[in-house]
Amino acid sequence: MSDVEIVRDGAVLTIALRRTAKKNALTGAMYETMIAAFDEADGDARIGAIVLRGADGVFTSGNDIGDFIASAQTPDEMPAWRFVERLAALETPLIAAIEGLAIGIGTTLILHCDLVYAAPDALFKMPFVDLGLVPEAGSSLLLPQRIGLAKASEFLMLGESFDAAEAHRLGLVNSIVPNADLYAHAAARAQALAAKPGAAVATTRRLLRGDLSALKARMNEEAQAFSQALRSDEARQAFMQFMMRAKPKS
Ligand code: COA
Repeated sequence: MSDVEIVRDGAVLTIALRRTAKKNALTGAMYETMIAAFDEADGDARIGAIVLRGADGVFTSGNDIGDFIASAQTPDEMPAWRFVERLAALETPLIAAIEGLAIGIGTTLILHCDLVYAAPDALFKMPFVDLGLVPEAGSSLLLPQRIGLAKASEFLMLGESFDAAEAHRLGLVNSIVPNADLYAHAAARAQALAAKPGAAVATTRRLLRGDLSALKARMNEEAQAFSQALRSDEARQAFMQFMMRAKPKS
């Protein structure tokens, strides 16, 4: 089975991350598949919503760390950058359904979603600083705007994790849905949204987001800082520590 499965059901396109043996760590190829799905949705007026979900109890463990190591030579060409730019420019409404881990970009991408549903076991974490890295996907701008500077600093500087209940309390998640119902619930909300008058939804979405120029500028700044950080000794050491970590014997 492919690492990313794209399924169309009427007016809804579902992107399911299925690299579950690696906790859905995102590779360049997976980003490219998601970008192609976004292009398909934006290019087809019959598609009214996209659902982004994981599988087997995990959303994503974030960018593949092996890919980070490989990209350190040419960080500007990382597919992850094209992905976050495409995500920020997406026109089709995007709904995330999150169970289990949502690490790194798995958390920052929800800031670009229109609706987010989480299972009680969802766990959000942005460990950029611990990896010698810096925030991406506009999160250094969007997160403090959404939840205030104090909480954003806790999550982006200390790298503290937060659960579904806290995400809901902070307004990052629309509702908490039992694991067994999560994907069906997200699909139903997506179908409901896709059934609304399309032009009115599109205009409302554009108005809710407002002027995106500050976001674009911040994403460029983040990309430059991230590219630099990726080449740093701090990052190299953190990646090596992950790759070499001792695993408990089974
Ligand atoms: N990049 C590359 N491989 C990853 C990965 C990632 N982000 N996350 C998990 N994997 C791989 C592991 O190396 C392991 O592979 P292996 O079985 O070939 O050794 C497999 O997925 C399962 O992960 P494992 O660590 O054994 O599971 P766990 O339940 O003990 O821990 C995590 C899961 C996600 C907490 C842990 O893997 C982790 O911390 N990953 C890194 C998360 C991260 O920092 N992401 C980058 C954010 S910017």
